[in-house]
Amino acid sequence: MLFKLTEEQQMIQDMVREFSRKVIAVTADERDKSKEYPAQNFKKMGKLGLMGMMIPEEYGGENADTISYVLALSEIAYSCASTSVVMSVQNSIICESFNYFGTEEQKKQYLIPLAQGKMIGAFGLTEPEAGSDPVSQATTAVKDGDHYIINGTKRFITSGKTCKLALVTAKTDEKTGHKGISVFIVPKGTKGFEVGHVEDKMGLRASDTTDLLFDNCRVPAENMLGNEGDGFKMAMRGLDAGRIGIAAQSLGVAQAAFDAAVKYAKSRKQFGQPISKFQAIRFQIADMAVQIEAAKQLILSAASMKDRKVDYSKEASIAKLYASEMVNRITGMALQMHGGYGFTKDYPVERYYRDARVFTIYEGTSEIQRIVISNKILRDKRKPLTNTET
Ligand code: CAA
Repeated sequence: MLFKLTEEQQMIQDMVREFSRKVIAVTADERDKSKEYPAQNFKKMGKLGLMGMMIPEEYGGENADTISYVLALSEIAYSCASTSVVMSVQNSIICESFNYFGTEEQKKQYLIPLAQGKMIGAFGLTEPEAGSDPVSQATTAVKDGDHYIINGTKRFITSGKTCKLALVTAKTDEKTGHKGISVFIVPKGTKGFEVGHVEDKMGLRASDTTDLLFDNCRVPAENMLGNEGDGFKMAMRGLDAGRIGIAAQSLGVAQAAFDAAVKYAKSRKQFGQPISKFQAIRFQIADMAVQIEAAKQLILSAASMKDRKVDYSKEASIAKLYASEMVNRITGMALQMHGGYGFTKDYPVERYYRDARVFTIYEGTSEIQRIVISNKILRDKRKPLTNTET
């Protein structure tokens, strides 16, 4: 591997791998069927420091680097993608937004319990008519004395039902495009804030995805996170980190599908020998391994750029685009390798295949990643390399 992990990164990966395989994996299939939200597991993950890994210790986190975080997230995704999406949203767009934009009081009141996993957060950006284009959102927040009144509907919100608070984007100025969007902290129980429709999804079934409804919901002005107009940049910043997380999730699920395929190929006999003896299968195994390794390097590279505090937006999108498309190919190949058994619920590849499908869609579709990547290249002010430079 290109990256040599530090002793601490290796220790975190080993610890999370053991926890994930012993605790998270055992009930993953059951949860996929029952759609039961694993509240107890999140409490355990909170105690292990997995819910706010990159947050400073003084605010309840572990002060871990992004490389440790992606290793840990991949290990959780290996066992249960539903669990890993909640971990991903909590660590990146929730905790990191509080850490970067929050006031001291907001950090003490909300970030500490969030980072400790005592409270789950949701991020409300998407709307029924505003998905890839969040600037066109219709939710408004109108100032009324020392309060704001929020009206609108958010859609496809991860942890919408189970969260204890939502970070909600809303237009505070309808005339200034992305500069008129702000973010509000809205705790559950606030009058005028209800959970709406709960989606019935093909995958990630143990993580709830819901509408959030705001009907003249009054929140104190001090519940604004960051300054008025910071909302779009906060979302973009959070999504940069989130996209590395979705790439790490993709890696974990791909590795699980790959391991299952290799195991099956070694044990399944046809024409008098294990199917792993056939070149058609061996070449597929090689192709799968190459793609998984390529995704891993892209993810570690983007994570290391984030840790070095250089602009990693393009690299996060490259990792997300490649890894999420890769896992859809790998889970499809793993299922095919299982033949008819792959199409049944007797083998986990069927779940991996369904879970992976959304990875090219949420936190920015593959098409949006291509926009971010090409925008960065074509607007990049860095001097391009000449043919003689390497
Ligand atoms: N970090 C900080 N600021 C950023 C930024 C970033 N990564 N990207 C853009 N900005 C800033 C720009 O600097 C610019 O600011 P100025 O006007 O001050 O210069 C401003 O934002 C507008 O930037 P662009 O002109 O590049 O924006 P755009 O409108 O052309 O393109 C987009 C934006 C890339 C298409 C963006 O709208 C986007 O990413 N859309 C997809 C949204 C998305 O991913 N939604 C997923 C929902 S969350 C989810 O799935 C949740 C879940 O629960 C799992």
